[in-house]
Amino acid sequence: IVVRREDYRPPEWLVPEVALDFDLDPALTRVKAVLAVRRNAGDGPLRLDGGGQQPLAVRVDGAKAEWRMEGDQLVIPLAGEAHSVETEVEIAPETNTQLMGLYASGGLLCTQCEAEGFRRITFFPDRPDILVRYQVKLTADQRQFPVLLSNGDRVGAGMMPDGRHWAEWHDPFPKPGYLFALVAGDLAVNRDSFTTMSGRVVELGIWVAEADLPRTGHAMAALKAAMAWDERVYGREYDLDVFNIVAVADFNFGAMENKGLNIFNSRYILADPETATDADFDAIAGVVAHEYFHNWSGDRVTCRDWFQLSLKEGFTVYRDQEFSADMGSAAVKRIEDVRVLRAAQFPEDAGPLAHPVRPESYMEIANFYTATVYNKGAELIRMMATMLGPERFRAATDLYFARHDGTAATCEDFVVAMEEGGGIDLSRFRLWYTQAGTPRVAASLTHAPGSGKAVLRLAQTLPPTPGQPDKQPQPLPLRVALFGEASGARLCDERLVVLDEAQAEVVFDGIGERPLLSINRGFSAPVIVDTDRSAAELAFLSAHDDDPFARYEAMQQLMLDRLVATVSGGDGDPAPVVAAVRATIADPTLDPAFVGEAIVLPSEAFIGDQLASVDPDAVARARDGLRQAILDGIGHGAWRALWAANRDNRYELDPRAKGRRRLKNVALGYLLADEAPDAVALAADQYRYADNMTDRLAALQLLASTRGATRDAVLADFHDRWADNGLVLDKWFTAQALSTRADVVELVEALARHPAFTLANPNRARALIGAFATNQRGFHAADGRGYRFVADMLIALDRLNPQTAARLVPPLGRWRRFEPGRAALMKAQLEHILAAPRLSKDVYEQASKSLGPA
Ligand code: ARG
Ligand code: ZN
Repeated sequence: IVVRREDYRPPEWLVPEVALDFDLDPALTRVKAVLAVRRNAGDGPLRLDGGGQQPLAVRVDGAKAEWRMEGDQLVIPLAGEAHSVETEVEIAPETNTQLMGLYASGGLLCTQCEAEGFRRITFFPDRPDILVRYQVKLTADQRQFPVLLSNGDRVGAGMMPDGRHWAEWHDPFPKPGYLFALVAGDLAVNRDSFTTMSGRVVELGIWVAEADLPRTGHAMAALKAAMAWDERVYGREYDLDVFNIVAVADFNFGAMENKGLNIFNSRYILADPETATDADFDAIAGVVAHEYFHNWSGDRVTCRDWFQLSLKEGFTVYRDQEFSADMGSAAVKRIEDVRVLRAAQFPEDAGPLAHPVRPESYMEIANFYTATVYNKGAELIRMMATMLGPERFRAATDLYFARHDGTAATCEDFVVAMEEGGGIDLSRFRLWYTQAGTPRVAASLTHAPGSGKAVLRLAQTLPPTPGQPDKQPQPLPLRVALFGEASGARLCDERLVVLDEAQAEVVFDGIGERPLLSINRGFSAPVIVDTDRSAAELAFLSAHDDDPFARYEAMQQLMLDRLVATVSGGDGDPAPVVAAVRATIADPTLDPAFVGEAIVLPSEAFIGDQLASVDPDAVARARDGLRQAILDGIGHGAWRALWAANRDNRYELDPRAKGRRRLKNVALGYLLADEAPDAVALAADQYRYADNMTDRLAALQLLASTRGATRDAVLADFHDRWADNGLVLDKWFTAQALSTRADVVELVEALARHPAFTLANPNRARALIGAFATNQRGFHAADGRGYRFVADMLIALDRLNPQTAARLVPPLGRWRRFEPGRAALMKAQLEHILAAPRLSKDVYEQASKSLGPA
């Protein structure tokens, strides 16, 4: 059951064309498939993957044929070189709770095929290197399913005598089964159009339930901006006459890049100021762009096998990150992306589920849609782009697209294109694709007064990860600059230092005063940098560094050093942090959005990641203590003034207004640190009078951690106000799941019995259980009740939806990082999960690996 990268073999049979005929019905859908097959290699029978369904009929070249089942595979011996193979199956979309293949969601029928869902629809060689031209005929009840969509262009439609109707779609671009899609339902459309750089008019459609139509404008604007951006930045033009997006309420992930018919989790489409936060608006633009960009990095050039997943995902995440950076504040976007990397990917790299960006083996590929493949993969592309510079990187991506268009390619193909198109040797850089783990760099700067020289000593190590005890040094591109302590000025041009050995020394000349080190500027390499910079030096850099990321980083490091010192029982004097926060708040030249990011304390989880053995209580105490010290040190009055100064009378969605809201709500967070009655009243007022969800939810989230009548009243109000908007109700569940109250476990257990809670909807399950599993207090309650709750919910969810259930394992999988008492309780729950009957292979893989060798 383990699939290995080294076992890749080219397919024995190709499928140049397929005709699919769907007789759609939620209870029983009949699927007829006619595959034109042609021998490519070997002499074996045709093997078609299935997903548990039985073939009702199998015909070869029009005649009944011999076949057998081997597990879920339909095996058909074929004598010649080319045949027409016809199969017929029946499937039941409305009982498909896994949400893979064809399923029902809110009265619609829709599909999700990546990675291996297509086989649950029809017997097919379900692997990404078999590129097929599709003709699809859909027939369904006209009243229940007036809209029938699939990939490509609609070539015909008509009524049938019995109240049913049909539509036929042809996709001219050959594609693997994972990019197939269909949607049937009662949908309204927001229509628009885009004229491509060569003057072709593309018809755009965003399809949603009629009532949601007013919430599709932002997604449409983002789509058009993404189309223009990909032309301008990568020279990529859209290729079909139609581009459709459908939003569905039940979806395992964010969205899916099916050719010409993207299907989205509705949370990444629907937005208006009343129901969506600024973060939601940004996420929508990012995901719409991501899926659109896949049309080239994913669909036109796809993956040879699933070990190459980062070929499309790492590159596409990089592309969407750069798009979002261009559309708003690049500095704040980079800070957010690094925060995500550190929150999700670094812990993965440091735990039992660590794997390289290009994994070597898997039991269930769905478990490898990870922060490592996506976000670390994006960092790999970013490092290559940094080393090449914009012009050479563009030449290299042009070569990549030209060379591999219409094919299924590998990560190696991408690197070769970077080398040949960019004129660079990446032989050692390839280690980034094969070695797991986060590199650590020790950096120290010395300067002998009067010498005019500064020497930067660098040393890198890469910790062992499961199956990889010994590592080699990887090339790390580090952007470095020096600042004068006396002058406050930059002492040299920024240098790109590529550390490709275990150790190196870099000499800077013409240094006439004591220099301070600014390193890994812009987070140019996804590594942990350990420096010996003092609190005073970090405070200085937090006020003077001219790279916004480095400036943010100096402040974060300053805070982190204090917090770690406090947890370890050492010197936790908050004065330097308070002074640096005061200076940052007072600097009128800074963008409020930046200030909002810079003065937020590191999360409890991230503080824990710095410790050898985490005691969550000690972490919480240290963070609460520093928060209180910052509140007191700056003063209630000053925080309240900052809150007031960043208030706007009228809602706008531009970056400036978003930044002001961010800073205002960070100020509100500090004000609530000690639950002073006037601060609670201020938050309650903000909640009541807000004209947008960002402010309303910020107040609600803060109040959810308080005790008393105000909290209960705003939660009840929010619930009643939004009871029939599922996406907003998810926020209500999450706000409570993340509460820092001591009784949060009981509150969350009660919410799991709330009539609006269901495990059948992945968004709802994640909103409560997924969010709670990140709550460093409730989840890690000392008696183990939080662990037990998550494990029991996970086991229940696994019966319905293994992919979504498996995503709940990693929080328990971090058990080795915690103090012995917690570690034992977490481990016991992993064992409890593994002992559950009929466990999916998704959960089995994650839980067994989590208990396995460190
Ligand atoms: N390709 C999709 C995206 O990145 C995600 C598909 C996730 N599917 C899965 N089985 N994990 O936009
Ligand atoms: Zn993607």
